[in-house]
Amino acid sequence: MSAKHATITTPIYYVNDRPHIGHAYTTTLCDVWARAMRLRGQCVFFLTGTDEHGVKVEKSAAARGITPRALADENAAEFKRVMSLFGLSNDDFIRTTEPRHERQVQALVKRLHEGGSVYLGTFEGWYDEGQEEYYTETKAKELNYQSPMTGRPLVRATEQNYYFRLSAFQDRLQQHFADHPKFVQPSARQNEVLGRLREGLQDVPITRTNFTWGIPFPDNPQHVIYVWIDALFNYITALGLGEPDGDAARDRACHWPADFHVIGKEILWFHAVIWPALLMALEMPLPKRIHAHSFWIADGQKMSKSLNNFIDLPTIEGYFAHYGLDAWRWYMATQGPLTTTDADFSARHFHETYTNDLVNTVGNCASRVGAMIGKYFGGMLPEDAERGGPWPERCTSATRQWIEHMDAFELAAAARCGIDLLRQIDAMINETEPFKLAKDPANLPRLASILNQCAQTVRIAGVLLEPFMPSKMSALADGFGGDACRASPWEVRSAYGHMPAGCAVTKLALFPRLEPIGKLPVG
Ligand code: MSP
Repeated sequence: MSAKHATITTPIYYVNDRPHIGHAYTTTLCDVWARAMRLRGQCVFFLTGTDEHGVKVEKSAAARGITPRALADENAAEFKRVMSLFGLSNDDFIRTTEPRHERQVQALVKRLHEGGSVYLGTFEGWYDEGQEEYYTETKAKELNYQSPMTGRPLVRATEQNYYFRLSAFQDRLQQHFADHPKFVQPSARQNEVLGRLREGLQDVPITRTNFTWGIPFPDNPQHVIYVWIDALFNYITALGLGEPDGDAARDRACHWPADFHVIGKEILWFHAVIWPALLMALEMPLPKRIHAHSFWIADGQKMSKSLNNFIDLPTIEGYFAHYGLDAWRWYMATQGPLTTTDADFSARHFHETYTNDLVNTVGNCASRVGAMIGKYFGGMLPEDAERGGPWPERCTSATRQWIEHMDAFELAAAARCGIDLLRQIDAMINETEPFKLAKDPANLPRLASILNQCAQTVRIAGVLLEPFMPSKMSALADGFGGDACRASPWEVRSAYGHMPAGCAVTKLALFPRLEPIGKLPVG
């Protein structure tokens, strides 16, 4: 039987911005999921990249006196560097300025044009010449037909553009939403989109003529394809689906449709309505799920350039240096805005999470169990005459729930499955008091069973936590069974009792107790 395919994508990020917590967040979420699916033996394709065309890039480049391509090259390189700094395991990184992407976008748009879903139309409206912007009749009236910036009168202007016949897909989209109640997650977001969809859809312009930094429309190059249309296609151009006979498609076509497009809430309309309609027009399958998360805010306020409160790369690197990369990933995946509420990033909350979850629970549990096996059994896993007691069932159930949560992209809930096992182990240790049992040799078999059960369970918790904290959990796996256990396929690795009696168990110091980051001397 061939492995199940698992495909996940991040938005592709604008190159006129520097990488910050928002980019780190979405990409880390996808990374956790991709690692979980790889752990389960699935054939994963995890895609991220950069969105490099459009007026904004053209303008930022002009402001710096460099070409848009030079700006794009510089910032795409920075995004790539940051991805590897974050230990992200993406399988491809697509840039929209790559020939493979540009070629396919043109081919796809050509197909849409030939199929009648794209047509040349004329637009007439109130135009602000200074701002290069059109206003609706209502807005123009409100402005007294004057530019709000320059005060100059708005002019009647017409423009020819290519349009995408979005209005033709209203019924099919509504039907798709009705048939797939989990198409957009969380469900409140699906309702939002559906509400707006019911208000009706208008055809949308998909080309511009007021700038040149983009992909030319096939056979009419003074029209440039609008950056959003160009960008959305990345999800299939990376798989080669715009060139069905090409090499990429031969290797990667099995990865469509994607299981998840993970995005921020602000770009949901494009992903939940425009993108599915484009795919419908191309007669291609739609992605299975779109997960729209909310936003990180900082100390209760929206992050913005003007407030200068962005959790930017240097700040993030400060957290890496102090708490380590895995602690950062843990905070992102378990405390972030995965559902409909924004999450507040604060140094205090980060520190509390680190201390409670990682120092006091994961680290402490692993170190306690390792230390006792060291002390009472010379570092070798003792026999369990009780055959696991309640633990095999507890571990199986935690693993089953972990799978369900991962499949549903409920990452924080999946993380809890691992943490809860460790909390239960802690509770058992506190209850049974092995250090007291050890005082009487008659208790040795009981002590052996308890510590075997602890070790077997800690190992399984470590497997469940591995996608979140790959390097720390690799250290844990070294101490609990080592390569013999790790090399096994998922079914074996995730099964209780996989560590044989007699194998080495070591005491580990995974997460040191630390001072809060804010109290460090600066500089
Ligand atoms: N280029 C478009 C996306 C095209 S996808 C076909 C774009 N790029 S972006 O650089 O602005 O990145 C937006 C994404 O960054 C959001 O959708 C989200 O994934 C992430 N975030 C940006 N700010 C964020 C927060 N404050 N919090 C969490 N994530 C946010 O839009």
